[in-house]
Amino acid sequence: MTNCGISRWDDPRDINRRLKILTDQPIWEVSDEYYEGTILKYYDEKCAASKAVFDEAKEFIPGGVQHNLAFNKPFPVCFERAEGAYLYDKDGNQYIDFLQAGGPTILGSNYPAIRDAAIDLLKSCGPVTGLLHEAELMIAKQINHCMPNVEMFRMLGSGTESVMASLRIARIATGNKRIIKVGGAYHGWSDQMVYGLKIPGSRNLLESHGIPRKMFAYTDEVRPNDLDMLEGMLKLNKFRGGTAAVIVEPVGPESGTRPIDKFYNKGVRSLCDKYGALMIFDEVVTGFRVALGGAQEYFDVVPDLTIFGKIVAGGFPAAGGVGGKKEYAGLMAAGVGTMKHRAYVGGTLAANPLSALAGYTAIKEIERTNACEKAGRAGDRLTDGLKQLLDKYALPFVAYNQGSIVHLECTGAMTFDFSSFLLPKSAIGLLRSKDMMIERKDSMERMGAAYMANGIVTLAGSRLYTSMADTDEVIDEALNRFENVFKHVVKTAKCE
Ligand SMILES: Cc1ncc(COP(=O)(O)O)c(C=O)c1O
Repeated sequence: MTNCGISRWDDPRDINRRLKILTDQPIWEVSDEYYEGTILKYYDEKCAASKAVFDEAKEFIPGGVQHNLAFNKPFPVCFERAEGAYLYDKDGNQYIDFLQAGGPTILGSNYPAIRDAAIDLLKSCGPVTGLLHEAELMIAKQINHCMPNVEMFRMLGSGTESVMASLRIARIATGNKRIIKVGGAYHGWSDQMVYGLKIPGSRNLLESHGIPRKMFAYTDEVRPNDLDMLEGMLKLNKFRGGTAAVIVEPVGPESGTRPIDKFYNKGVRSLCDKYGALMIFDEVVTGFRVALGGAQEYFDVVPDLTIFGKIVAGGFPAAGGVGGKKEYAGLMAAGVGTMKHRAYVGGTLAANPLSALAGYTAIKEIERTNACEKAGRAGDRLTDGLKQLLDKYALPFVAYNQGSIVHLECTGAMTFDFSSFLLPKSAIGLLRSKDMMIERKDSMERMGAAYMANGIVTLAGSRLYTSMADTDEVIDEALNRFENVFKHVVKTAKCE
């Protein structure tokens, strides 16, 4: 396989063993003295312009930021410039960017070839006409070239919308009702999918406020990496509406935060075949990141439908799409009032020429530059360096990666799992653990603040995406910055 971003696959048992050691002890975090004396001082003295924007934004924007991942402690930093591996805030401070906008910028931020293509297009036709533009064909053909299983592709406005569309297609194609997702997985924020987010077994108990319970009537959740439980659910569903689809994040729930066996996806494929359900690969994160041919190439699995997002629009807005075999993807055929038996999808700005061309250019460039492999190598180097530092400072934190998706678990906030419990027990377990979960999450955010003050942008203090722009020098510089933080980590009495 060429342009593959994953060079090794860690045993999930080993990762889980290390995570258990982490969560069996009290929280380790940067000391109060360092946090108050150095980190908060950095924000006070060096981020005054960011603070002024945030203070005013709180008056006009719910929570002060428009994006969940921008909500950082002690206050969000306001960014103005992005280039390659680096971001610059409003006060002129420089950071190494391991958030990468949540995943889309695997070529590095503000990549010149994509920017130039976008500017040329804007000059000739503007961003949108609502009519056919050749860029739509170009991106569909390019995706098919990289992922032959994606025979047809319809570009939509976001990953969330694309998941919604895929479930509709699966129900039409199979005549079945139920959707099985894996606990902890994120498939966007549509009503029926805000179920078991982040914490397996949490069902509709944590994040589903404002969604009537009935919206989950046909959503089922199974334990991560557990094929027996999946088969049990498929069997049970035969008597209650049938399973339309099993949807998975192919490197494991929450972008691999819950590690899975390498053969897991093949197992899911066989079970879908056995029980007549469609298999949906949510490649919003993994598409054009873990390999040019996506996770489906890496795992050698043919899904029925593939969900796209993030990289698919090259870092531009309206990043989404559904693709797959003609017999399924064809069910989204366009047209007004067709009265056909089809999955209705839409979106005024979906597949606008700008997003389609930016996505096409990005995927072509990823192919030309071998970006998946380069970003994956950077992820390996970062993970190996982090592991060495954790050993050096005898810290129980856990680092592992799936290529350019790097996990750095400092507090165990992401490791709770209630999927073995039946519903009432799960609710009790969750309530009992809630304070502990909040405490571990607070500490994770405190670590995130410490990384930021040392010039490293992370995803919520626990995940790091590497890009092609992360040369060995960038990674080594990042490791120096991590060491500055790790030096100040102490064992606390929290969560004893
Ligand atoms: C695996 C996965 N699926 C779906 C989505 C939703 O995509 P979007 O944010 O474009 O709606 C995300 C977003 O992070 C994701 O990580």
